[in-house]
Amino acid sequence: MIYEAIISTIDTLGNAHVTPFGISMHDDLVVISPYKPSTTLDNILATEHAVMNLTDDVRVFAGALTKRQAWALLPASKVTGFRLADTLAHKELKLVKVIDDALRPQLFMEVLHAEQHQAFNGFNRAQAAVIELAVLVSRLTRLPMEQIKQDITYHTIAIEKTAGARELEAWGWLMEAVTNHQAALNGDNIA
Ligand SMILES: Cc1cc2nc3c(=O)[nH]c(=O)nc-3n(C[C@H](O)[C@H](O)[C@H](O)COP(=O)(O)O)c2cc1C
Repeated sequence: MIYEAIISTIDTLGNAHVTPFGISMHDDLVVISPYKPSTTLDNILATEHAVMNLTDDVRVFAGALTKRQAWALLPASKVTGFRLADTLAHKELKLVKVIDDALRPQLFMEVLHAEQHQAFNGFNRAQAAVIELAVLVSRLTRLPMEQIKQDITYHTIAIEKTAGARELEAWGWLMEAVTNHQAALNGDNIA
């Protein structure tokens, strides 16, 4: 089973990096599998720590993929690094094992500390739709435009029926990235 989380890491100078990752659990370890090259991979190998944030604010997913800093950070409690200020929960992680791979290594991380900050409010279809569009945007250059458009048509139903302000803003950022990509494919001058 894979959970979509926000992983925050720092480089050796203390600069924060925040990005979505699908994580899985193996026994009690969190497994993160970054495709190379990855700043998150470099940061975890250099510092041996990361923070996993569980948030229902989908603007963080959309913002990370569209280069908007849609979040505030607070220092982590037990490790050197940061967590999202507005997150339902976070877990502070230490690297304990690496399975290296030319394409996609696996990083096994022990949970050193966990905190719950807010209650889970229930499932929301628009949030799931934004996550699906974020995945498509992260693969824009690898997926056929026709498939992306078909998927967007379907996910738009959930947005129109169930989105709140945060979901609409996140959806707008991601749709702008799709539009820009389509314009670049068409050779349009969008500057
Ligand atoms: C929901 C979601 C899950 C993702 N999961 C992964 C993942 O498991 N591995 C990965 O390499 N990228 C994943 N991505 C894409 C990364 O967030 C994005 O490409 C990012 O730039 C990773 O590289 P970085 O560490 O250099 O930031 C995911 C994106 C989304 C929206």
